Amino acid sequence: MNVLVLHGINLNMFGKRDPTQYGTATLADIDAQLLALGQELGVAVETFQTNFEGAMCERIHQAHADQVDAVVINAGAWTHYSYGIRDALAILACPIVEVHMSNVHAREPFRHHSVIADIAQGQIAGFGVDSYLLGLRTAVNHARKAN
Ligand code: DQA
Repeated sequence: MNVLVLHGINLNMFGKRDPTQYGTATLADIDAQLLALGQELGVAVETFQTNFEGAMCERIHQAHADQVDAVVINAGAWTHYSYGIRDALAILACPIVEVHMSNVHAREPFRHHSVIADIAQGQIAGFGVDSYLLGLRTAVNHARKAN
């Protein structure tokens, strides 16, 4: 089973940006924990980060061509307005889990709306790095049930 974890715009700055919201773990720390959990669960995990919307869309298109079994995505601020990312994700047949480090619903109103939430299996927000790890676990469980 192959799971793709996508990190969107500005998420390469985890560890340096607003630790009260995002903690101190870097993206490399998060990726290392995801790869370790993937090994524990017996699935191949690949991670990808970009600050370019088109590059993210093309990585999602590649995931479609590769027939990945599940996608975990933290789209960063794109979550709240990118119909391009939404449309790319909607092409995928596999389960999609939306994750956020911070509790977006307890923050500014513009963060309360996600343009991808309704095409995702579900959303996990507010648990820091655990949001990703829970997202990976539930994506794998869901994909296993679907197969
Ligand atoms: C975020 C929440 C978004 O609102 C924000 O734009 C981010 C990070 C999170 O992980 O909590 O960049 O997706």
